[in-house]
Amino acid sequence: MALIVGPVARGDNFWDRPYILDDLWTNIESGTHTLLVAPRRVGKTSLMFRLLDQPKEDYIVLYLISESAQSANTFWEMLFEALTEDRFISTVKLKAKKIYDKLKTIRINEAGIKGIKFGESDSIDYARAFKEVLKSFDSDKKLVIMMDEFSQTIENIIKHESVQSAEKLLSVHRSLRQDPDIMGKVTFLYAGSIGLEGVVSSINALHSINDLNAVKVTPLESTEAKLFVEHLSKESAISIEADEIKYILKKIEWYMPFYIQLIVKEIQRLYRKDPTVTKEVINEAINNALENRQYFEHWENRLHVLSKNEKKFAKEILNIISEYKKLASKEILNIANKYKLDEKIMKEVLRSIVYDGYINNEIDAKVYRFNSPILRIWWYKNVAN
Ligand SMILES: Nc1ncnc2c1ncn2[C@@H]1O[C@H](COP(=O)(O)OP(=O)(O)O)[C@@H](O)[C@H]1O
Ligand SMILES: [Mg+2]
Repeated sequence: MALIVGPVARGDNFWDRPYILDDLWTNIESGTHTLLVAPRRVGKTSLMFRLLDQPKEDYIVLYLISESAQSANTFWEMLFEALTEDRFISTVKLKAKKIYDKLKTIRINEAGIKGIKFGESDSIDYARAFKEVLKSFDSDKKLVIMMDEFSQTIENIIKHESVQSAEKLLSVHRSLRQDPDIMGKVTFLYAGSIGLEGVVSSINALHSINDLNAVKVTPLESTEAKLFVEHLSKESAISIEADEIKYILKKIEWYMPFYIQLIVKEIQRLYRKDPTVTKEVINEAINNALENRQYFEHWENRLHVLSKNEKKFAKEILNIISEYKKLASKEILNIANKYKLDEKIMKEVLRSIVYDGYINNEIDAKVYRFNSPILRIWWYKNVAN
């Protein structure tokens, strides 16, 4: 296992997440469609690649990342391209030749630079073509279609194409999920780093995703986190004493694999100069990690799905917690009043920043704190001040 800080952790570099994978497979096996929405770098793509690389016996898994799509047509083209990718086709060819044949007949005209080109693209109804392909998917295996950064795609379509086009894409997906010919054969997994609910509710289309079941990406439990640090340091030939490992974990507190990888990587850098890992070295490694703006700024940018006053409200709460480490719910109510947010909206915003992994009120229901002390310090230095 190598230290991976940022890119998808795949193969040997994937640290097992058995509970989350179980949740995902439970949904897939019961025909439930999944929403896997969580902030960047909590490990969504790595989990999806695990499903792709090690599918259960009776499943064929398709992965699509459509972040760059700015129109519904581009989204569909990308989906068709993914369906005709060699890796996918080679599995399908053996087990479900029909889907491949169908794709070939839909693949009208020449293949262009970007892959499939539909003859008269305007007159081709991508959604219908896709439905036909899925209906003809006649195999003893079931299909899992994972769409990464789907919420970003919807947001792009709203911004660059039109609200109607985004609504149509969402409603076509809903109808695909409810189509009796497709149900039982295909399950969909929608992932995203920006809240899909937020994006979808901004165009009043929540009804189009309310059948999706949200799977949470939780941090590692403390025993797992300890094993992960031990394993990572051993594999990178860094020796860290038990006390110092404890100290690292105390500092990280919120055991998302990314934070563990990031800190161990910074320790490895310092280790090259002096191979003794002391508490001072760990503190220095954490300070160095905080210099990487690209690893943290999405936490600030992510708030852009909120409306102007909601965003000010959320920022103020986070600013205060980053300074004082905690904030009582009654104070939160006062801040909401300041921004003229009624109680319902206030609760929604609060729930979304809890759900998105900024803060929690687990120790005391009336008191909110940052999940990650590392993010708290970053926020304090870079956003609050
Ligand atoms: N299961 C895992 N095993 C090892 N590292 C992981 C795992 N999940 C996440 N990471 C760490 O988090 C980083 C981001 O993971 P990624 O799957 O790209 O997250 P997301 O798709 O949510 O942005 C990886 O580069 C790695 O450092
Ligand atoms: Mg990702």
